[in-house]
Amino acid sequence: MIKNFLKTSDFSRAELEEIIESAAQFKKGELTGKPLSGKSVALVFFNPSLRTRASMQVGIYDLGGNSVILEPGNTSWTLEHRENVVMDSDKTEHLKEFVGVLERYVSLIGVRTFAELKDWNLERTEPILSAFEKYSTKPIINLESAMHHPCQSMADMLTIRERFGKQRKKVLLTWAWHPKPLPMAVPNSFALAAAQFGHDLRIAHPKGYELDAELTAEIERQANENGGSLEITNEIDEAFDNVEVVYAKSWGSFQHYGNADQDIREREIYREKWIVDAAKMQKTNDAIFMHCLPVRRNVIVTDAVIDSANSVVLDEAENRLHVQKAIMAKLIN
Ligand code: CP
Repeated sequence: MIKNFLKTSDFSRAELEEIIESAAQFKKGELTGKPLSGKSVALVFFNPSLRTRASMQVGIYDLGGNSVILEPGNTSWTLEHRENVVMDSDKTEHLKEFVGVLERYVSLIGVRTFAELKDWNLERTEPILSAFEKYSTKPIINLESAMHHPCQSMADMLTIRERFGKQRKKVLLTWAWHPKPLPMAVPNSFALAAAQFGHDLRIAHPKGYELDAELTAEIERQANENGGSLEITNEIDEAFDNVEVVYAKSWGSFQHYGNADQDIREREIYREKWIVDAAKMQKTNDAIFMHCLPVRRNVIVTDAVIDSANSVVLDEAENRLHVQKAIMAKLIN
């Protein structure tokens, strides 16, 4: 039995459907239980957050629990996660003791640990999240790691479900220009979940901005197994044709991983074209517009699109709360 919530592909379609159904019931007020009554949940943030932090805290409160927020290197000690190291540098506490202590107090541990965008071969192995998983006997919830943001992608799937029911939809995940390289967790997880839910997924990005090859193979396998499909294009002009969902996100290039300056210089040519604007949305089949937030207005998406009636970005943010309550309730039981 799986005890952690680290990525959606650890779960079957049926289990994911169960979480979506439970989240919808929490949202409608049909589920009102307090499975965290008398329990505490640690939320460990190595990186900043608005939605994840606020929705987890509110969700824990709604489920009757208490949240303990820790920010290593800020409101708690700096952490070393590697094994067999001489800790004579800037790290004060080892993750082994950090987790060992925490699990004497709490029933669940949520962790946010972004990619550092320095060493892809290392970061794609999720070294910090994996250390939490290794040392903890309590369930771990991934609140965005180097590779995955499964709470976000489940909120996104609930948002699509609310608009379209259980229909198979034409879904576009489009890269967008951004002034600096960003991690790939959100596009990875969105594409994976869209495939697991059996949508027809099109991923659009400029050449050189491919997602991880192994993950792309998994996305394709999941799409095929679940009755959907995967198409990848480098043509922004055709990418929007007839799609019903547009999900915008920027991410960094593997070719320049660890060399942000080079990526920034080379991506400049995409600035004008790779933005979601009204002209591109006109090519769609009245598509909804999605983004995980935070978003840079008039960089990733124009005001006209994000402020339009087709924009569901606030629904996605709200659905984080309901989905995470469903996930916590599942793990605690
Ligand atoms: N979408 C999301 O995870 O938002 P935060 O980074 O603000 O938590």
